[in-house]
Amino acid sequence: MSTSKNLSSQEIVGRQLEDFYELRRKIVKILTPRNEYEEPSVAEYRELLDALQENLGEMEAATRELLQRYNRSENRLKNVLEANRSIWTRPTGLAAEKIPVFCPLVRRPTAPSGGKTRIVSFINLKGGVGKTTLTANLVAAFAAGNFRDLDGRSNRPARILAVDLDFQGTLSQRCARPNDLQNAYKNRLTSTRLLDNPSKVKIEFEDLTVPFLGSPNADLLPAYEDLDDKDVRRLNELSSRYQETRFFHRLWFHRPDVFEKYDFVFFDCPPRLTASSVCALVASDSVFIPTAPESFDVNSIARMLNWFGKTRQNLRLPVQFGGVVLNRTNNENDLTTIEEKNKTRIKLFYDDFRAFFPDSPDRPAVLDAFIPRRTGGNYINGVDGKPLPYAASPHFHRLATEVYRRVYQ
Ligand SMILES: Nc1ncnc2c1ncn2[C@@H]1O[C@H](COP(=O)(O)OP(=O)(O)OP(=O)(O)O)[C@@H](O)[C@H]1O
Ligand SMILES: [Mg+2]
Repeated sequence: MSTSKNLSSQEIVGRQLEDFYELRRKIVKILTPRNEYEEPSVAEYRELLDALQENLGEMEAATRELLQRYNRSENRLKNVLEANRSIWTRPTGLAAEKIPVFCPLVRRPTAPSGGKTRIVSFINLKGGVGKTTLTANLVAAFAAGNFRDLDGRSNRPARILAVDLDFQGTLSQRCARPNDLQNAYKNRLTSTRLLDNPSKVKIEFEDLTVPFLGSPNADLLPAYEDLDDKDVRRLNELSSRYQETRFFHRLWFHRPDVFEKYDFVFFDCPPRLTASSVCALVASDSVFIPTAPESFDVNSIARMLNWFGKTRQNLRLPVQFGGVVLNRTNNENDLTTIEEKNKTRIKLFYDDFRAFFPDSPDRPAVLDAFIPRRTGGNYINGVDGKPLPYAASPHFHRLATEVYRRVYQ
């Protein structure tokens, strides 16, 4: 190819044809008995030349297009390979009028208990700290009226929807009847569908929910393992094509039928940055960060606040920082010295990232209410379709009351 570097395509064709004539002549001579060989006429060669030139022209155009496609794919691949956490925090490329609306409280219709629906995420990039346990038990506590509202009233059950956004489906397996879950999986009525535009999937929102075990006032929107693939696909689209994939949950949850039906929507997020967890953040009014009170778990709060704050700032999200909830503390009624020290460290982390939350109410970063460690999985996780017993405890009453105050503040 080096000889063809500065030649026009016409010249390249010409040269190839000369070689071709020569080759053809040799082959025909070899294959044809000596007395029968006849040199092709100039007209025949001309005809052949025209046909070949036409073919080559088409091939050239096809090659150009292939090359363009290859370059585009290579760029996308490069973007995907370089994708990291920052992909989720970057500003949107959408024009303001194209961004799905975050419905402000004043425009929401009245929720069943007479207030306005609050959408809340429980999120921590650290795994195993109790996000799902707290979400499940808080849902059960609110649904049973095990909290005090702003007027100090108790025993007013709230209507509440728990949404499982982790493909591992722990919340779903703990809090839905197995039959309901199997049906949801079979009919693909799970949180995987939330990563599509609702106008395209043509599913009634109600069909996505199943009853929450033992709590007649609560529903569950289950997760299935195919959520993992969808999360990755949405990440790739955002990173490779700059196709915005972070606003789906606004389309699904900021709707009058959801606001009219529920006092709360709780998102149980996975311990990873996924399309679903970012979508939850984008649709939420408040975010709570559950953590265990040990040093290693507490260290991850800084990373979490940094990511949350940047996303909030870059995407101009109204979501407020609800606070950090300590789970699995060692004592019943007070914190140990080390736990107190770790609580102070969380406050210092929050001071470091306070600039991301300029409009947040001035209140302690860590909630006063905490949840002690319990032995006996059945007590914490529930069993055999019975309500979650821990949810009825004074600890969850205190936590639900404080969560209520903070989201309504
Ligand atoms: N207060 C508690 N006392 C005792 N065990 C607890 C407590 N809270 C949670 N656990 C247990 O710790 C484990 C992890 O809890 P959970 O699944 O709620 O964490 P998670 O943050 O949702 O985990 P993941 O990051 O995998 O989603 C579970 O086995 C749960 O039963
Ligand atoms: Mg979990």
